[in-house]
Amino acid sequence: MTRQRILPVDGSYREVDDYLTEHGVQKILLVCGKSIEQLKIGEYFQALHQRKNIEVIKFQDFQPNPRYESVEAGVRLFQGKKCDMIVAVGGGSAIDVAKCIKLFCCMEPKESFLRRQIEPNDVKLFVVPTTAGTGSEATRYAVIYDKGQKQSVQHDSCIPSAVLLDGTVLRTLPLYQKKATMLDALCHGIESFWSVNATDDSRKLSGEAISLIMEYKEEYLANHDRGNDRMLKAANIAGKAINITQTTAGHAMCYKLTTLYGIPHGHGAALCVDRLLPYLYSHTDKCRDPRGKSSLETTLIELAKAMGCADVEEAIEQYHHVLMGLDLPKIRLNSPKDLEILVGSVNPERLKNTPVEIGEEEMRDLYSEIFHGQQEG
Ligand SMILES: [Fe+2]
Repeated sequence: MTRQRILPVDGSYREVDDYLTEHGVQKILLVCGKSIEQLKIGEYFQALHQRKNIEVIKFQDFQPNPRYESVEAGVRLFQGKKCDMIVAVGGGSAIDVAKCIKLFCCMEPKESFLRRQIEPNDVKLFVVPTTAGTGSEATRYAVIYDKGQKQSVQHDSCIPSAVLLDGTVLRTLPLYQKKATMLDALCHGIESFWSVNATDDSRKLSGEAISLIMEYKEEYLANHDRGNDRMLKAANIAGKAINITQTTAGHAMCYKLTTLYGIPHGHGAALCVDRLLPYLYSHTDKCRDPRGKSSLETTLIELAKAMGCADVEEAIEQYHHVLMGLDLPKIRLNSPKDLEILVGSVNPERLKNTPVEIGEEEMRDLYSEIFHGQQEG
């Protein structure tokens, strides 16, 4: 697996200076959202030309749920300006765009990059995540939309070569966004933990991420520096875990929920996991993990322990309590037809990573419970 360097944060970004010097960088393509203007790391890149004679070419021509055309425009800019490093400062969209630019930046811009064999290159990709959630900075996956269709690009060589986990970037995030991104990281941890693809290594990572999130969630939501630092670390570790295992039913079920009801990805995933945890616990007889039913039962007990709970019943209660305690906007079922749309939207491939079989009828019930479950305290 590609090694990723985590640069230490000392407040002055000296370690970033060292990293750029070490690689002899002369011209950076900086993929970033508007939020960079409010951040200290933004000031750092603004002053870089004057301080270190390193030119910074900004690329901001992309939207949330980034389109393939943005990737092409970024590749054109990288090649036209003869950049020699890619830096991303932003959330999941900026990082995914930067990962795609990195994958395609040394390829001839003829037919669509998406339909061609990727030619790995040595261009460094350095990432500063500005939310603690997606963990995209740690994975080989990038999501982009081509002609309205979601495309998951995956390649080991798009895993960023270096990452700066700077908790100060989280200070100005809106609270709902902080909550939703934290829940995304928590779901990555939980889903990775129970995934049929989980290994000893991935469970060490996912378990650590879950424990960090449970321990520091209050400090993070109260915007304390230590809480912000720990949450960024947790999201990064959870990203490393799903890079090994991929996500499961929680993520497979949440995509349509987020688009139909206009809620953030992490919020949707958390509502699904809230129903999946009790479902898995009470359906271990439908285990599809080749390690068997008793291994799955042990996994769920270990998961409960990672959450700081004595047993699975307590973990189910604790998870629900945490989710309800965040006081997120409630979603109400628009029409019974939506249940059919939701059931039909679930990607069967992703469902296969879930350790218990979920049939169509059960899926309908789970979605139904999601809408009802928010009313309980
Ligand atoms: Fe996610």
